Parts: sequence; C-alpha cells; structure tokens
Amino acid sequence: MRPHALLLLPLALLSPVLATTPPTILDAISNISNNTLSLNSSITTFRSESGNPLQLLPIVIHSSSLLASIKSGTNTAKASANLTFDETVAVAGATQSLVSNVQSTLSNIIAAKPLFNRELVSPVIYLDLELDKQATDQFSEAVISKVPSALQGLAQQIVAPVDTAFDAALAAYKGQI
Ligand SMILES: *[C@@H]1O[C@H](CO)[C@@H](O)[C@H](O)[C@H]1NC(C)=O
Ligand SMILES: *[C@@H]1O[C@H](CO)[C@@H](O)[C@H](O)[C@H]1NC(C)=O
Ligand SMILES: *[C@@H]1O[C@H](CO)[C@@H](O)[C@H](O)[C@H]1NC(C)=O
Ligand SMILES: *[C@@H]1O[C@H](CO)[C@@H](O)[C@H](O)[C@H]1NC(C)=O
Repeated sequence: MRPHALLLLPLALLSPVLATTPPTILDAISNISNNTLSLNSSITTFRSESGNPLQLLPIVIHSSSLLASIKSGTNTAKASANLTFDETVAVAGATQSLVSNVQSTLSNIIAAKPLFNRELVSPVIYLDLELDKQATDQFSEAVISKVPSALQGLAQQIVAPVDTAFDAALAAYKGQI
C-alpha cells in the first residue's frame, strides 16, 4: 500500500490548473472585444428580423455577459503589475480595435432604437448603456493606472472616443425612460 501516492494524485491532477497563468490585461481586452462583437451580432439579427421579439433574449444574454467581462477585466487590470513600455504598446493596439468595435456596436444600438421602442424595451437599453458606460470607465481607469506615467495622457486620448460614443447612445435613448 502506498497511500502517499494516492493522496498525491489529486494534487497532480490539479497542478495544470494551478500552473495556468492568470489572465492579463490583453486577455481582458480580447474578452471584452469578443463579447462586444457577440452583442453586436445579436443586435444585427434582431434588426434583420424587423425587431423579432424572440431575438431579444440573445441580446439580454450577450449584454449581461459583456457587462460581466468588463467587470472581470477591471479586476484583472487592478491585479496586474504595471505595464512595461512594450506591453503598453500591445495594450494600446488592442484598445484601439476595441474602441472601434464599441463605437460600431453603439451605432448599431442607436439604429435599432425604433425597433426597441416598438418592443417597449428602450428604458432597459438606456439603463444597460449607463451600466456599461460606468463599468467601461472603471475598466479604462484601472488599465490606465498601470500604464507608465509618461504615456497616461496618450492612453486617455485613445479611450476618449468611447465616452463620446456612449454619450451619443445615451442621448438617443434619453426620454425613452
Ligand atoms: C476572442 O476571440 C478570438 C477569436 O475567436 C479568440 O482567439 C480569443 O481566444 C478570444 N478571447 C477570449 C479571451 O476568449
Ligand atoms: C471573460 O468574461 C467572462 C464573463 O463574460 C468571465 O467570466 C471570464 O472570467 C473572462 N475571462 C477573461 C480571460 O477575462
Ligand atoms: C456591427 O454590426 C453592424 C450592423 O450589422 C455592422 O455594420 C458592423 O460592421 C458590426 N461591427 C463590427 C465591429 O463587427
Ligand atoms: C505603477 O505606476 C504608477 C504610475 O503610473 C506609479 O505611481 C506606481 O508607483 C507604480 N507601481 C509600482 C509597483 O511600480
């Protein structure tokens, strides 16, 4: 009998899990970007089916998973070490592509407004946009705090268009509440 070996087995099975590296800021951006694209697709489907109410559920699901990914990304960013110059360059590139995905998704949401109005869900969209904007601001702030201080001004400029796009979408839905 070698009880030790048996006792060690579960640990051996666990070790690959324990050995995986924690998610990085780049992973978080990729995750948020993917969730943004999924939300965009579900809105496109809803629009292409002339506001089919059955297509509201996927929007709700993707929207809440997007919010979850932004919040989890904020925790990732907070837990991250300061970014080196090279890491900052990579994060800036990924952020620019995320910014353009967000702008495009928000335009899609604005274009869907008459259909959302007809389904009486515009007030919910407005609240979702507010939550997303808040969460996105917190994410940006957490990431920017890890950027070398000499590059923080530039980082602010890269994310600034996101607030502009959110404000336009919020303005479009304001008064629907
Ligand atoms: C995002 O999607 C890309 C392409 O499908 C994939 O390679 C990547 O792993 C995804 N990122 C995350 C964090 O799931
Ligand atoms: C991706 O987002 C989901 C929530 O949608 C979260 O559970 C998961 O931990 C995130 N993964 C990464 C790598 O940030
Ligand atoms: C979002 O959806 C719109 C409308 O279908 C599409 O034109 C746009 O390219 C999509 N955005 C992205 C980043 O895929
Ligand atoms: C991280 O960078 C910030 C400035 O961007 C600085 O204030 C802070 O001291 C740095 N932290 C570490 C652990 O180097």
